[in-house]
Amino acid sequence: MKVAYAQMEPLLLEPEKNYSRAEKLVKEAAEKGARLVVLPELFDAGYSFESKEEVENVAGQIPDGPTTEFLIELARNLDVFIVAGTAEKDEKGRLYNSAVIVGPTGWGYMGKYRKVHLFYREKLFFQPGDLGFHVFNIGAAKVGVMICFDWFFPESARTLALKGAEIIAHPSNLVMPYAPRAMPIRALENRVYTITANRIGEERGLRFIGKSTIASPKAEVLAMGSEDREEVGVVEIDLSLAREKRINEMNDVFKDRRPEHYFI
Ligand code: ACM
Repeated sequence: MKVAYAQMEPLLLEPEKNYSRAEKLVKEAAEKGARLVVLPELFDAGYSFESKEEVENVAGQIPDGPTTEFLIELARNLDVFIVAGTAEKDEKGRLYNSAVIVGPTGWGYMGKYRKVHLFYREKLFFQPGDLGFHVFNIGAAKVGVMICFDWFFPESARTLALKGAEIIAHPSNLVMPYAPRAMPIRALENRVYTITANRIGEERGLRFIGKSTIASPKAEVLAMGSEDREEVGVVEIDLSLAREKRINEMNDVFKDRRPEHYFI
């Protein structure tokens, strides 16, 4: 199975333009054979908001909003699964930093995730996620979803892996330099593949680091993006590696856990 990140530069408060940019990249990934494509956090809205009103103007309901509708159609036309970060406004007007997962014909809208660990000024605009961590079965693989700063809390990836994720899709807007080094370790300690789709560019003085990363259960970096270009990274993955939690004849990273000794 081939999987991809689509590293892009979302334009602040310009969803229509961002749909076009995303469409071009997802198409390129699909043409290169990707079955699963991950877009960045808030790919539709941009990131550096100054007020709640700004977010409200670009946020939509999930699934009955323009971004989810755009993604459903794109996935159907290109015959791919897509995980993408989006600004969500629920029926009561509450805002969430969310991600949706959609699939080809017969799959459509599959579900959403609301970011659990909000980073810095996100706390001014968004409600903390209230849906927990979820794993979605796309047939060929089980895909867990977390968003950007969730990586800083190893519990996020661990929870997804314990729930059966073989791939962790990780839409991001990274500003700190650490995640490209840390995500291979998240992949290793959980024996999963990770796909971090980051953004590039600068918004209102905030610079994003690019370096989207696909990591293997052996902590290998299978693909890494540049710091400053929109591009896709497409790699073939071997899911049997993610299904094997034994690391030798006597150790199994899940069965050897000793939760009774952990402080939770
Ligand atoms: C982040 O969570 N967007 C840094």
